[in-house]
Amino acid sequence: MTQLNVAVVGLRFGRTWVNGFRNHPDCRVLTLCDINADVLQQNATDAAIPSTSSDLDDVLSDPAIDVVALFTPAPLHAEQSARSLRAGKHVLSAVPAAVTVDGCREIVMAAKESGRTYMMAENWPYEPSVLKAKSFYDSGNIGTLFYGEAEYIHHTESLWFSADGEPTWRHTLAPLLYPTHGLGPYLHMTGDRFTEVTAHSVSGDIAPGTEPGRSWLELAVLRSERGMLFKLLNSFCNAHPGGHYLSLYGDKGSFESGRGKKARSQAFAWSLGDEPREMAEEMHEYPPLPDYAQNMGSHAGPAVQIIDDFVSAILEGRPAPIGPELAVNMTLPGIAAVESIQKNRTVSVANPADWL
Ligand SMILES: NC(=O)c1ccc[n+]([C@@H]2O[C@H](COP(=O)([O-])OP(=O)(O)OC[C@H]3O[C@@H](n4cnc5c(N)ncnc54)[C@H](O)[C@@H]3O)[C@@H](O)[C@H]2O)c1
Repeated sequence: MTQLNVAVVGLRFGRTWVNGFRNHPDCRVLTLCDINADVLQQNATDAAIPSTSSDLDDVLSDPAIDVVALFTPAPLHAEQSARSLRAGKHVLSAVPAAVTVDGCREIVMAAKESGRTYMMAENWPYEPSVLKAKSFYDSGNIGTLFYGEAEYIHHTESLWFSADGEPTWRHTLAPLLYPTHGLGPYLHMTGDRFTEVTAHSVSGDIAPGTEPGRSWLELAVLRSERGMLFKLLNSFCNAHPGGHYLSLYGDKGSFESGRGKKARSQAFAWSLGDEPREMAEEMHEYPPLPDYAQNMGSHAGPAVQIIDDFVSAILEGRPAPIGPELAVNMTLPGIAAVESIQKNRTVSVANPADWL
């Protein structure tokens, strides 16, 4: 059986993925890469991986490497993904795919021209409550969707400054440049595409922590090709314990996830004709995880499935479930939303089909 040789690049969130790849039967982690020498050494020791590099170019020039798994800061993803694809590597990239329209275009073109597999590691389409929403949608019992809402409130204050006091990429990242958790489930489920967005931002008076270099909370109202209206609320700084939310309304039924920390597992659904006339609650959990996933943290469930889907897409020669076009369709609406805030008007969302 073919084994894919994997390099994991960026080793904070990337640690989860080192564990996932090195335990996958069709993969072995050949190299770890990080610009931070201490982080690199610690991970190499923990995972018993002798080959390390502080330079992505070394990884890309190594013909033994088949796969580059990028878990570097978001503003680096587009250039690193495109460079890796053009070097002949398959790419699994952390979210978001990019933070600019040009970056999204670069990924789509590099994937097309190289013929290599690109997948974005968006975990929300793999969360148990969202899998319930998808099966409800696929069954036809929610009907044609016409409205949805998603929220993503995540306290990143502890990550705004590095140990030496320098602002990190998270200090100034606009919340809506991180739209894929909120928009991903609906787009993955339906294949629809958002076409225009109007967005607004707001901040509180007293920041819970050091004042960030951007607004606390951003709100986008989006329209899709199929006429769907969608409200997306994102915040990296809010007097709230944090969490997610998803609701989808169709002409035959409705779906709502739990709020906050319950969003992953709690699902409420109702279809026309159901009695009683109230949303029925179901709790959904991840399928039992392999033993090695026990130390992969809170993202283990989706990560195991994402790696499996990515690896089988490569080995079986079929498209990845969150390939370049879907990845940028999850990412571009947030980029347009930030432009909408800056220009105080509705903005069109770029269409990757126009680039191909
Ligand atoms: N649920 C999710 O999907 C989820 C969760 C957490 C993070 N993320 C994403 O994963 C990515 C990484 O997040 P994080 O929290 O680990 O970020 P981080 O900034 O804390 O860590 C990034 C790591 O990459 C290293 N790095 C930076 N530049 C590099 C380069 N040029 N080459 C090699 N290594 C480099 C850094 O030294 C650091 O160890 C981000 O894009 C983030 O958006 C996604």
